[in-house]
Amino acid sequence: MTETILITGGAGFVGRHVAKALLRDGHRVRALDSLIEQVHPTRSRPSELDEDVELIVGDIRDGDVVRRAVTGADAVIHLAAEVGVGQSMYAIDRYTSVNDYGTAVLFQQLLEHPVRRVVIASSMSIYGEGLYRTADGELMQDVVRGPRNADGSWDPLDKAGRPLVPIPTPETKQPALKSVYAINKFVQERLTLTLTSQYGMEGAALRLWNIYGPGQALSNPYTGVLAIFASRIMNGQSPMVFEDGKQRRDFVHVSDVTRAFLLALQKPEANGEVFNIGSGEDRNVEEVALLQAASMGRADIAPEITQQARAGDIRHNIPDLTKARDVLGYEAKQDFASGLEELAEWVARQESQDRVADARRELEMRGLVA
Ligand code: UD1
Repeated sequence: MTETILITGGAGFVGRHVAKALLRDGHRVRALDSLIEQVHPTRSRPSELDEDVELIVGDIRDGDVVRRAVTGADAVIHLAAEVGVGQSMYAIDRYTSVNDYGTAVLFQQLLEHPVRRVVIASSMSIYGEGLYRTADGELMQDVVRGPRNADGSWDPLDKAGRPLVPIPTPETKQPALKSVYAINKFVQERLTLTLTSQYGMEGAALRLWNIYGPGQALSNPYTGVLAIFASRIMNGQSPMVFEDGKQRRDFVHVSDVTRAFLLALQKPEANGEVFNIGSGEDRNVEEVALLQAASMGRADIAPEITQQARAGDIRHNIPDLTKARDVLGYEAKQDFASGLEELAEWVARQESQDRVADARRELEMRGLVA
């Protein structure tokens, strides 16, 4: 059935991919986006936004604009958000205002104009540290990362001083909110699930891991690590790798995330649920920097390991995707090597400013790297 889908933040990296896929499936797509300067330096409609998308330029906190956007919509994919974990630790009012107050404004308007379903982009950040086990195989649920260990290592330790081993984290792990961003995302998730069920709508939340792919905001110094590394390498500079570079993440291609959103929008069983979404393969950040330099033909550029941690960062977190597979029928398809090749080709066609050094200075000035 053809529906009108509102994508908040629809002019952004993920929103543009989701919009294209929805149009391909025959839906009408409306995007509400404020085109913030940090992501859209020219503040104009991005050329990569499909021309069949109806774009409403406005702020998610503006009730009048949001009313216009939700009127006539059958479903909402809520992506409008400030997304930098590090930046959230000092831009506290802006992050909380856009992410949480913005979601509140959206639901205020949805009370008058209810939709069939709202799907929210949540984040793996809400877990804090992922699940771990000890060297003896004991499961550790509530690991809190401390300052760097006395011997200079970074992994959380068990009581005997042995490093804990990260294992896949299921949706049942208790949240441990370690950054303003994580707090914001958890509030967004809860508002969505609580209010949709209260008011006869359906809701679902995707806890996304680290998304990469063509269309990432290269000139945004607070964007995901692969885009940051890409602009550094493109400018002949070493990627700056925090800690010792051994922190593990799951990098998931935007095409897989797009499929997950479509499934979460359509599958009846998704209603009321949260789902981890990743690729199912984890790797450490140093390895990513090396692979990425090679994929861009710059294997000569070695990463700079800073041995400094960014405030609010998690050490390790990798997803258990069983629920997404069983309930949504989600399976990641894009392999990392060809995903990096594709990203490299796209990056080669872009211009970017290397504002990463500025961003780092900003964190340093505020004592947020140590
Ligand atoms: C990212 C997303 C967040 C999403 C989360 C889910 C962005 C801006 N943030 O946050 O919206 O909810 O994934 O997983 O896309 N690192 C470096 N050097 C750098 C930058 C980062 O070593 O120059 C390291 C970080 O310390 C961290 C890892 O790379 O260990 C990933 O960082 P980042 O890409 O910012 O992702 P998250 O903080 O996980």
